[in-house]
Amino acid sequence: MRISERVRRIAPSMTLAVSQKAAKLKAAGEDVISFGAGEPDFDTPDYVKRAAIEALARGVGKYTHVAGTVELRKAVAEETARVHGGAYSAEDVIVSSGAKHSLFNLFMALLDDGDEVVVPSPCWVSYPELVAMAGGKPVILETRADEGYRVDERRLAEVVSPRTRAIVLCSPSNPTGAVYDARTLEGIARVVRERGGPDTTIVTDDIYRRLVYKGEWHSMRRIAPDLADRILFIDGISKTYAMTGWRIGWCVGPRDLVTAMATLQGQSTTNAAAVSQAAALAAITGPQEDAERMRLEFDRRRQAMVAGLRAIPGVTLAEPQGAFYAFPDLSAFLGKHGIANDLQLAEWLLDKAKVALVPGSGFLAPGYARLSYATSMKNVEEGIRRIGRALGELA
Ligand SMILES: Cc1ncc(COP(=O)(O)O)c(C=O)c1O
Repeated sequence: MRISERVRRIAPSMTLAVSQKAAKLKAAGEDVISFGAGEPDFDTPDYVKRAAIEALARGVGKYTHVAGTVELRKAVAEETARVHGGAYSAEDVIVSSGAKHSLFNLFMALLDDGDEVVVPSPCWVSYPELVAMAGGKPVILETRADEGYRVDERRLAEVVSPRTRAIVLCSPSNPTGAVYDARTLEGIARVVRERGGPDTTIVTDDIYRRLVYKGEWHSMRRIAPDLADRILFIDGISKTYAMTGWRIGWCVGPRDLVTAMATLQGQSTTNAAAVSQAAALAAITGPQEDAERMRLEFDRRRQAMVAGLRAIPGVTLAEPQGAFYAFPDLSAFLGKHGIANDLQLAEWLLDKAKVALVPGSGFLAPGYARLSYATSMKNVEEGIRRIGRALGELA
């Protein structure tokens, strides 16, 4: 079958090879420890499940407003105002089937062919792919481990121009765990004012906002309120409430943009699943103790993983401050035993140590690897021990 050029342009996930191999080994009964998952290992909190069951009993299984139920959009608007300041209402919100879907709708509504979108790297690879799918041109801006992955104002100024339609910020970051400090955000805002055009926007992907362990999380809108009508918020329930499979995310932004996104959604997927919307409403308006309990447990694992990785000679690691990933530099181990790159190193670690991790190339950072600590403390400790033993052979 002839596949469309549009879809052939999409890069298949580089990370798939290792995760597929890990799944195969596991199925064959091998004791594989996986640091690959981008999702909490916890179950969805009980109060959320109960709300979903009650909603089903009430008969929610019907279409909702394309942009989401008024109740959920109101709750999202209130939370947005509480976190970021300003005033938002249900009309400024569109709920989609996951934050990734929100980003897809957003870039489709925002970009014309050739419009530039600046993406600081290492980055979640879906950003450049989503931008390209919408006809835009991803402009990758490298950030450095020894600078805490901060966006350098001068280097940003070199790539931002009136052609820039958006700058995508992800704090805490997938994959580095970096959390942007206030000065970095002030610098980015300055560049947008001075180098960008009137249509240059800032997309802040706040999906890991609640998972911060060190330092303070800052809202770009609070730092640059003068840019408020050019800041587009992406958020959702997947990571904070262990609800990846429920598929609810949202975008909050200027009403004309949100309306355009709703038009697109209305002709493609219609509303996000009604029962999931009811669950999401319960998640964000209900008691927050479960979310906090999970955050504290992630932090314990983070500390164990950071200490364990840093104790391995040859591994360097900028301390992750948020999300649930560590992103060590493993380049010291390349070029040995015929291992030429991070993909081969990941495969070798899977064969040798029975540990699955995601090669850094999957995040535009060759030589690195992403390890998720969204797995049990026992797995963190044993997995890092295995990696240390295996890498010891390459030293
Ligand atoms: C940075 C970032 N943004 C957005 C998402 C999408 O989350 P979801 O579509 O599950 O809401 C993810 C998921 O991995 C992510 O890592």
